[in-house]
Amino acid sequence: MITRNKNISKTGRAGVTATLFALALMFGCEKQSVDGPVLIKFPHVTAPATPKGQAAERFKHVVEERLKGRVKVEVYPAGQLMSDDDSLDGLAFGEVQMIAIPVSKLDRLTNKFQVFDLPFLFPDLQAVERFQASDNGQALLTSIVDRKLLGLSFWHNGMKQFGGPVPMRTPQAAKGLKFRVMESDVLQAQILQIGGNPQKMAFGEVYQALQTGAVDAQENTWSNIYSSKFYEVQSYVTETNHGYIGYMVTVNPDYWNSLPDDIRVELDTIVAEVSTWANEQSAGINLAGKEKIIASGKTEVIELTAEERAVWQQAMRPVWDEFSDIIGAEAIAAAEAIGRSAD
Ligand code: LMR
Repeated sequence: MITRNKNISKTGRAGVTATLFALALMFGCEKQSVDGPVLIKFPHVTAPATPKGQAAERFKHVVEERLKGRVKVEVYPAGQLMSDDDSLDGLAFGEVQMIAIPVSKLDRLTNKFQVFDLPFLFPDLQAVERFQASDNGQALLTSIVDRKLLGLSFWHNGMKQFGGPVPMRTPQAAKGLKFRVMESDVLQAQILQIGGNPQKMAFGEVYQALQTGAVDAQENTWSNIYSSKFYEVQSYVTETNHGYIGYMVTVNPDYWNSLPDDIRVELDTIVAEVSTWANEQSAGINLAGKEKIIASGKTEVIELTAEERAVWQQAMRPVWDEFSDIIGAEAIAAAEAIGRSAD
């Protein structure tokens, strides 16, 4: 049994991950036993009350109701079983069978999802949803099948805000601050663009890093900031809505195609139904998180004027140019146009 070395550098991990994926491609993932019920282990890193947490629990409930006795789903929230990073390897080796990976964290495997990380490209969740429903967006679901990652659907969390030790009404306020970001080159570049010092870090390490001062600031959705209590160790949260956190519900295609046809077809149907339900809840869950943070009195919420937000957009726009060669200028323009098509 090949075990993963968890104590290696980021760069080293990328190399090991590539090797692990290559080995998984060669040996394939462990087949599910056909004797008992099909077991779907579904780890994720956020709290149960978040959009992803509620979606995963809803998936479990509907599956065990509709496929009673034939399929069992075990959800492992809050990083109980593994980190996002490890869940990609776990899927490749059949340790787990379904994940909902932040599209930002696919950056270590492919550039194809970087468009989601461009700051201010999508003004709101509806714009993201229009892009995801477009041909370009849907094509992303099957764009990394060669890496043994098959996307079944997109789940939203929400739009990102900046938490930190100072109000961030202007980009200048971010200068010199150490920001935690997800493992994404675009997110790293956006922080550098405003004079900050980006630190790529796993979600489970953020609270302690903020508490100890290892980082000063972070970006996340209202729901994650509330449910992971980041607001307790941050003096301000500035509502910028500058980016998106969402997930690709992902399986190993070898595993998925090895399931009995009737079970796989029903699971596909359930994923689609749960995705619609979950994405209708996500904005409300984030608004509730914002309201609970304000009510707590433990941090001050800063709401930007339209003019202040326009200054942020202008300050971060050079990141689009920086990545236009990789993502494609046409792809960026198309995504922006699709996102704004309701205007
Ligand atoms: C999530 O799943 O929402 C988190 O992984 C996002 C993050 O900040 O890492």
